[in-house]
Amino acid sequence: MRVTQLGVLVSGRGSNLRAIAEGIEAGTVPARIAVVVGNKHNVPAMEYAGRHGLKTVFLDPKSVTSSTDPRRAYDRKLLRVLNEHRVELVILAGYMRIVSSALIEAYASRMMNIHPSLLPSFPGLDAQQQALDHGAKISGCTVHFVTEGVDEGPIILQQAVPVHEGDTAETLSERILNEEHQLLPQAIRLFAEGRLRVTGRTVRIDGEGA
Ligand code: GAR
Repeated sequence: MRVTQLGVLVSGRGSNLRAIAEGIEAGTVPARIAVVVGNKHNVPAMEYAGRHGLKTVFLDPKSVTSSTDPRRAYDRKLLRVLNEHRVELVILAGYMRIVSSALIEAYASRMMNIHPSLLPSFPGLDAQQQALDHGAKISGCTVHFVTEGVDEGPIILQQAVPVHEGDTAETLSERILNEEHQLLPQAIRLFAEGRLRVTGRTVRIDGEGA
């Protein structure tokens, strides 16, 4: 079977990166991690990738601060790395930088983000705390294609989880994270199998529904 080349972008803990790597290893995700790119040095995600023999590239945001448009300059560098590694699908796996149009246009409908809420509720930072502050009874996670607006692109998959009385941001995050680890590999599998069709904001999954 053809294997999809992934570029995984990370900033921190790397548990979603691990879930992807484990899905590939278990044979449930027909993909290969061609490169892991981080915007932070020595974070657990980069250490995990290094330990598991994955190619890692650290791109220092400070290297572009003298540019007139640092975000674009950074993403142009990033794009070069992704091209060098023949990346077909980009995964934002806990990547905490806003991506610019340079990257979004090059990877239109080929870049996915995982977010810890049921979008369009609670975009941006601290989504789990936002759900608690709002008194939501249900939250969850969303995998979506990346477009210009933050956490706004066409939704691929979602999974709901209950919010329990007495939940803290930590307990809710953990319940959501367990589902993220199922959802993201599943979305990558659907992409790799060529089953995702994007029309406007809607993503249809071939072989599901009417
Ligand atoms: C995950 O909960 C992910 O959904 C979230 O950061 C965490 C990263 O964990 N992403 C965002 O909030 C993006 N807006 P990980 O590094 O262990 O995969």
